[in-house]
Amino acid sequence: MHRLVFRLPETDGQPVPIVIAVLGPPGAGKGTQSSMLANLLRVPHISSGSLLRSYARDESEVGLRLRGMMAVGNLIPDTLVLDVLATRISEPDCARGLILDGFSRTLGQAELLERGLLKSPLYAHNLREKLVALHLRVQNSTIVERLSGRRICSRCSATYHLRTQPPRVRGECDFDGSALTIREDDRRATVLKRLRLYEQQTVPILSHYVEKASLLEVDGEQAKEVLSQEIVTAIQSMLRSSTSGAKNVWSTLEDNL
Ligand code: AP5
Ligand code: MG
Repeated sequence: MHRLVFRLPETDGQPVPIVIAVLGPPGAGKGTQSSMLANLLRVPHISSGSLLRSYARDESEVGLRLRGMMAVGNLIPDTLVLDVLATRISEPDCARGLILDGFSRTLGQAELLERGLLKSPLYAHNLREKLVALHLRVQNSTIVERLSGRRICSRCSATYHLRTQPPRVRGECDFDGSALTIREDDRRATVLKRLRLYEQQTVPILSHYVEKASLLEVDGEQAKEVLSQEIVTAIQSMLRSSTSGAKNVWSTLEDNL
């Protein structure tokens, strides 16, 4: 059996970190909202998709397999995803909390994450107060429109949309001037397959989070700035009623508003 070990950083009596797991279908705005939350809370934004894409660039056998699976919109096996994630979560910058973008995506992943986290003394009690699942609800027609217009910087991965968030210069990244590209899995047929997998594999874990964690559901159809504000307000009120474990994140949020 696969053995998962999360080596969460020791905090020497410091407040416990909070994990915000951002869930939603492809194109729901997980990356967009995770990036905003991470900047605000000053915690790392960890996207399982971006981590896997960086491993997929490797010319090894694993890299080749990953590239093949991701290009056609398949989910990557849980054990591999968990290995990649556990390595990243072990880094010291995760001590104050983290935003997990696109993870968990299967019931198996949700359970492995919790079992891994629960091994750490930081998470030994009251998981409900330390894990917030944020679900962005978006209709399929919106998703197809968003992903057909998405463009990504080939160097820094900054995300644009041809209609709602165009770059200043056509085809070039605002930050480094590199060429903008289309993500390989954003072809229409692949998007429809990713949506099907989301319905089959990920939607069932929402009820798991209702039981195990605090599930926050928001309307992802709203303009991103309006949505960001709604998320921040909801997380603020959630953390206000939470235990001391949340205080580090809570006070950072207060400082930044
Ligand atoms: P991943 O990279 O996570 O892709 P995804 O879940 O399909 O989601 P996207 O990144 O496509 O969309 P997003 O929700 O981040 O939206 P974004 O903010 O970019 O995963 C890719 C692949 O990796 C998977 O298919 C799988 O193979 C593998 N993988 C990853 N994690 C895995 C896991 N845990 N287990 C197994 N396999 C895994 O926004 C989209 C567009 O809309 C942008 O153009 C943006 O500008 C625009 N936009 C965003 N918000 C708004 C808004 N409110 N209004 C208008 N436009 C908006
Ligand atoms: Mg994304």
